[in-house]
Amino acid sequence: MFNLVLFGPPGSGKGTQSENIVTTYNLQHISTGDLLRDEVSRHTPLGTEAKKYMDQGMLVPDEVVIGMISGKIDDAPDARGFVFDGFPRTRPQAEALDKLLEFKQTKIHLVLALEVPEPELVKRLVGRGVTSGRSDDTEDVIAKRIKEYHSKTQPVANYYNEQGKLEHVTGDHTIADTFKTLSKHINKYLLPVT
Ligand code: AP5
Ligand code: MG
Repeated sequence: MFNLVLFGPPGSGKGTQSENIVTTYNLQHISTGDLLRDEVSRHTPLGTEAKKYMDQGMLVPDEVVIGMISGKIDDAPDARGFVFDGFPRTRPQAEALDKLLEFKQTKIHLVLALEVPEPELVKRLVGRGVTSGRSDDTEDVIAKRIKEYHSKTQPVANYYNEQGKLEHVTGDHTIADTFKTLSKHINKYLLPVT
């Protein structure tokens, strides 16, 4: 099994690059943002609770997100591996993920951190907001998401750096060029299937 965390601020390209990675390497994609938006659109109790935080650009409480992830890992017992996109976002989430994977006798192998300058992040997200329908793609909420990233999520990079798993990747080149760089790192662990 090969498990990858795709790390980076809002708008850095985690979702975009995950799509390419899961197809090229036949991995399962787990995006907590997508899972939460699905709960919101189905008006589940979890979704109703999560929406209060998401609309303000704040992180959803750890226990909500961790509970959701556990089930998703169990849903794919024969997976070649997982790409975690937008998770873990806090140290308690990272520790919980390590425990879940240990229970499955596996681990996180690699963490690729996309780096994009802040003005470019804002430009991309405001641009996406025109068509995405995402309630958090407005300029004021984007600013809050970026602030939340710096205060709560960026420290998670240190957690993985201490374990020797963190690699930084420049994320403001074209989508194709960024994918090439990510692939060079992944190829050290796993060969493409396509
Ligand atoms: P989430 O859905 O994870 O959003 P995010 O991290 O804020 O980031 P985005 O999904 O907006 O950006 P991305 O990095 O995926 O970039 P993308 O590929 O889309 O989280 C949303 C909310 O849910 C959070 O605020 C929180 O409330 C909650 N949540 C989720 N996970 C949580 C967790 N674990 N714990 C607690 N709360 C959680 O690209 C962005 C745009 O840029 C697109 O338009 C794309 O086409 C474009 N683009 C991508 N790459 C390039 C490129 N190279 N050049 C030009 N444009 C590009
Ligand atoms: Mg995303």
